[in-house]
Amino acid sequence: MKSLIVLYSKTGNTLGVGKRLAEAKGFDIKEVTAMSDDPNNKKPELVEVPDIIGYDHLIFGSPVHGFNLSQIMHVYLSQLPDLTGKTIDLFITHFFPYAWMGGTRTLKQMKQIVETKNGKVGKMTSINWKSKKRELVISEMIKAY
Ligand SMILES: Cc1cc2nc3c(=O)[nH]c(=O)nc-3n(C[C@H](O)[C@H](O)[C@H](O)COP(=O)(O)O)c2cc1C
Repeated sequence: MKSLIVLYSKTGNTLGVGKRLAEAKGFDIKEVTAMSDDPNNKKPELVEVPDIIGYDHLIFGSPVHGFNLSQIMHVYLSQLPDLTGKTIDLFITHFFPYAWMGGTRTLKQMKQIVETKNGKVGKMTSINWKSKKRELVISEMIKAY
């Protein structure tokens, strides 16, 4: 199985987790980038749009922005082709203390987009950057994905 991590990261947290996963598992990793990193831009213009062709296992990562999926990752996921036959794992990083302050909703939004493209969502991980359990959550995710 060939695995690819595709993530957006504004301040490096999501990227750091993605890099650790890539290194530990030998997965490829690609970043989504946009013309502007402004989280309030509702229609970001993507610059780097990673190609998923040739991969059967995808891992999508994003930060939570304003209780929601970051707009840049939203635009990226929305433009993907049909995902039939692919297994997709998800992870998000967030900062506010409770999962209901964006983490849960963001994973739900990512799952919904993936499922409208016939992708099968497997594992989902919410990483609270402020939590004492952060390292444990990350290492369990790396083992499981
Ligand atoms: C504009 C903006 C909005 C944010 N909104 C939320 C939020 O609603 N809930 C939350 O838990 N964290 C929120 N955060 C914190 C980020 O989700 C968190 O720091 C994340 O780990 C950043 O990931 P990154 O370094 O990969 O960009 C926000 C951060 C920014 C910059």
